[in-house]
Amino acid sequence: MGDIGIADLVSYRALLKAGSAEWHALDECCHITISRFFRDIHVFEMLRTRVLPDIASRAKREGRDARIWSAGCASGEEVYTLKLLWDLEIASTCPDVAVSLTATDIDATMLARARRACFEATSLHELPRHLVTQAFDRAGDLYCMKPLHREGINFLHQDLRTHSPTYCFDLILCRYVAFTYFSLPLQKQVLGRIVDRLLPRGYLAIGTHEKLPNDDPRLSRLTDTSQLFQKAELSDGRDAQNVGAVKSNCSGRHEQSASAFSPIAPARLDELRWAKDFRARE
Ligand SMILES: C[S@@+](CC[C@H](N)C(=O)[O-])C[C@H]1O[C@@H](n2cnc3c(N)ncnc32)[C@H](O)[C@@H]1O
Repeated sequence: MGDIGIADLVSYRALLKAGSAEWHALDECCHITISRFFRDIHVFEMLRTRVLPDIASRAKREGRDARIWSAGCASGEEVYTLKLLWDLEIASTCPDVAVSLTATDIDATMLARARRACFEATSLHELPRHLVTQAFDRAGDLYCMKPLHREGINFLHQDLRTHSPTYCFDLILCRYVAFTYFSLPLQKQVLGRIVDRLLPRGYLAIGTHEKLPNDDPRLSRLTDTSQLFQKAELSDGRDAQNVGAVKSNCSGRHEQSASAFSPIAPARLDELRWAKDFRARE
């Protein structure tokens, strides 16, 4: 406030109420940009064991790339975690399926950092040591992703409140952005747009401490406890109408059979074999 010659909060509020360009400056100051690799590790375990293999086999059947969107990607920790999982786990079983990742954020500084792909040790503390060695090169105090794990990621400057990528995705991660920081009416709008951007049978991941603003009839929760949802294949007339739009926006073919959504069996935390294996190998 000192920078713009405002003495107190009452005057600042009056300035905002007058519709000043200060709204934009204030908006820019309000981004919480905390992130880390494998944030909410049990979510990534579900992604690794259930979601990514399903996406890969569907993309293979349909002869197209698998598509993933990280909305509010911060410095890229989330999208690089997914790329690591794909490269180290999925690529060996489905070598002929490529993954194309889109990562969007409103903060240009964060996007520049994401493109640089060099991180401080604190961002990596949930990563097992052997993976740090395998996937990163040291540059002084920083850990930089090896080139292989940086391929296929498109970073875009985009405001989630008003825009979304023009194509459709097999998986969208919208974690600790809209469903934490946006007003309820805005959350509902953003959720609607996100679900529109999901392919039929596509998946949505939200943060462990978040909940959806409303029950979108097109979504089903994967398990009672998970923060993962799946879009119905053809849930209602609206979706049936959307198939044309989905097809025109997405290069991949998708199945048109109206088979019912079948929920994945509940995951238990003690199924986190992968995380345990990691820890055991340390
Ligand atoms: C707390 S971080 C979450 C990062 C990551 N999704 C995760 O869960 O670790 C929130 C990110 O959302 C971005 N963000 C905030 N408002 C946004 C908006 N309207 N559109 C796009 N990104 C936004 C911020 O710049 C920040 O990088």
